[in-house]
Amino acid sequence: MTLKREYVIVLLMKSAPLPESIFAMDRNLALEVVRVTEAAALAAAKEIGRGDEKKADAAAVDAMRAAFNSLYMQGRIVIGEGERDEAPMLYIGEEVGLGRGPEIDIALDPLEGTTITATGGQNALAVVAMADKGGFLNAPDTYMDKMAVGPGVDPSILDLDAPIEDILVKVAKEKGISINDLMVCILDRPRHADLIANVRKAGSRITLIQDGDVSAVIATTDPDKGIDFYVGSGGAPEGVLAAAALKCTGGAMLGRLTFRNDIERARAEKWGISDFNKIYDLNGLAPSDNVMFAATGVTDGTMLRGVRTSAGRATTHSLVMRSKTGTVREIVANHDFTRKTKFYGGES
Ligand code: FBP
Repeated sequence: MTLKREYVIVLLMKSAPLPESIFAMDRNLALEVVRVTEAAALAAAKEIGRGDEKKADAAAVDAMRAAFNSLYMQGRIVIGEGERDEAPMLYIGEEVGLGRGPEIDIALDPLEGTTITATGGQNALAVVAMADKGGFLNAPDTYMDKMAVGPGVDPSILDLDAPIEDILVKVAKEKGISINDLMVCILDRPRHADLIANVRKAGSRITLIQDGDVSAVIATTDPDKGIDFYVGSGGAPEGVLAAAALKCTGGAMLGRLTFRNDIERARAEKWGISDFNKIYDLNGLAPSDNVMFAATGVTDGTMLRGVRTSAGRATTHSLVMRSKTGTVREIVANHDFTRKTKFYGGES
């Protein structure tokens, strides 16, 4: 009987003696995890513009899971593709990693922007955040009212219940700019019609996005990206992922889960949420002081370039950040598929 080469390597990795340092969630893991988002982005990018959201998502999920399972960690997914009975892989509660190494909670979205990818739009990302155990709000797959701003603004001026005009006046003042120059980002949805009208009435400018609010929230932290403030209702899991990024870059955010029906409320209860009106700040959404965040662009966007392909090769653009140090790294990787293992899209 001959054992496949990859199988032997995994067996060795599962049994080899490990250095003590591997049992802590340290900076090396942050650089390892970017391979996971790169793998998902490379796989999803093959489906750009093909009109098949499910196929694009499945490609990203498969690649991300395979890449995770090559890392030394005892990872547990807390924000994932859904509940076990509805998602075959990367479901909430699934354990990933080689089963040795630090115990880590993982929030992920293998393809943030399935529609964007299927239609060849902007801002699709592969995203992973990691923290020590208990490091993320166990947000169910409901909506969340969100408000976010980059560093240098007093977090106490954010308020989900105050008239948006009042908040914009305060944000503009904190930023030292006129309210007319303030650029507000909002998801283009009918549910935001009043919000959009009120922001316009207040005099601020608006960037309406079709999808992808993780990228939009992160953009508020970088003055070069031209977005001062994010507001509106989007996915709750995406809210936690965005909060994980802001824990690393600095900035402020509020989130409140919203529920459309009792099924969603029951789902939240199952994950330990009893106060349905609670407003979470950054520390409520991502309580750990040891958070890592990695994202790789699938399609071009505000934060990241999408995957570029050429004969036998592809280039990815990623962000990797850690809350402990606040270091934000941009990583451009050139992948040679003639040498890489399968989950990167190669054949070897
Ligand atoms: P998907 O990755 O599930 O396609 O989510 C994209 C997204 O635009 C998120 O960025 C956002 O939080 C959410 O969908 C908004 O939900 P909806 O499209 O239902 O308004």
